[in-house]
Amino acid sequence: MLPRSPVATIPLQAISSGPAEAAHSGIREVVNLALVTPGCIRLEVGEPNFSTPAHIVEAAVEFARKGQVKYTATAGLLSLRERLVAKLDRVNGIKAGVLNVNCTVGGVGGIAAAMAALLEPGDEVLVPDPAWPNYRLMLSWAHGVLVPYPCAPENEFLPEPRAIEELITPRTKLLIINSPCNPTGAIFPRPLMEALVDVAVRHNLYLLSDECYDEVILDGEHVSPASFCTDGRVVSAFTFSKTYAMTGWRVGYVVANDKISDSITKVLESNSSCIPTVCQKAAEAALDGPREPVQEMVKAYRERRDLCVGLLEEAELLISRPQGAFYIMADVGRSALDSREFAFDLVKSKQVAVAPGTAFGNSARDAVRISLASSPEDLSVGIGRMIERIEELAEK
Ligand SMILES: Cc1ncc(COP(=O)(O)O)c(C=O)c1O
Repeated sequence: MLPRSPVATIPLQAISSGPAEAAHSGIREVVNLALVTPGCIRLEVGEPNFSTPAHIVEAAVEFARKGQVKYTATAGLLSLRERLVAKLDRVNGIKAGVLNVNCTVGGVGGIAAAMAALLEPGDEVLVPDPAWPNYRLMLSWAHGVLVPYPCAPENEFLPEPRAIEELITPRTKLLIINSPCNPTGAIFPRPLMEALVDVAVRHNLYLLSDECYDEVILDGEHVSPASFCTDGRVVSAFTFSKTYAMTGWRVGYVVANDKISDSITKVLESNSSCIPTVCQKAAEAALDGPREPVQEMVKAYRERRDLCVGLLEEAELLISRPQGAFYIMADVGRSALDSREFAFDLVKSKQVAVAPGTAFGNSARDAVRISLASSPEDLSVGIGRMIERIEELAEK
């Protein structure tokens, strides 16, 4: 077995400093504690509690049984990319060809490959705060420089284009946006999306639009920037994980101009060859199949959102009403603990796990993220206990 820490007589060369020095996800710490806490109510994980619809599973099994599970083109089966081109037109208003689409290991694989294709060491990347923690981790090996821009709770978690502009320097290359947003549930209204595209155009930035929750819309409409910004600067990332409760199948896709797409394909060629063929067939079945399972899941998330909005509003902990994705933020400032300490305390005192705002950046240090992908029963009991704990701590 390899020693956990080197005891070599010859000192080994330094390993890449980026990943070595980057912190692990702050959600993982809470997950680890929740896993060893018997009976813990799990509201911290962003994974649908629904099963993958049966017709999708059946299609994959049937394909696997034929025994012809071979490599595909690196970018994915042509038949899958043709279906994705149709989906992008129908759902997102994006006009793309099959050469603009690369299928990837989840949405995360598409975003990572796009970063690898776009960034040179030292390029500055504007990243939302709070944000899904993986952007930060990707930059640690892509050698991009993270420049957070606030999506403040006071502003319904929406960014201010003017504040973003103030952060732009001659080294800024990429603006990342995420609507519908993890962790806040915010959806960027069309005028804001237009203003963000305008910033990108005027400063000649690439725009990476993470649209992994594009079909989990609770209110209003989702706007894809590539539907109206067609000069090739927008790279859009999507996934099957959330829409179809297919997290473990690991199918995502990224859409970009011809040149970027070709670079992305080379990145993928070097790190995955292609994604599992069985999963590509499952994705085809998802796109071909009935829409009802998706509509039912979204309806359930909407009902859970309403339930949680009611509970949090009554306790004066609501920050904003989520319009998309399946998360809601709660203000835990009254506990007088920072959200990381609060999240640990809550698991230990009440056996309820939530994701601390500190895991997502600095702008939501007093908030925690609750996942609507948990059952309504767990949400009611878990939020009830969380409110109780905040009152107890506030009285101390
Ligand atoms: C904002 C955001 N982008 C991308 C992803 C990646 O999704 P996938 O599981 O398909 O890799 C996630 C997953 O949680 C996410 O929340």
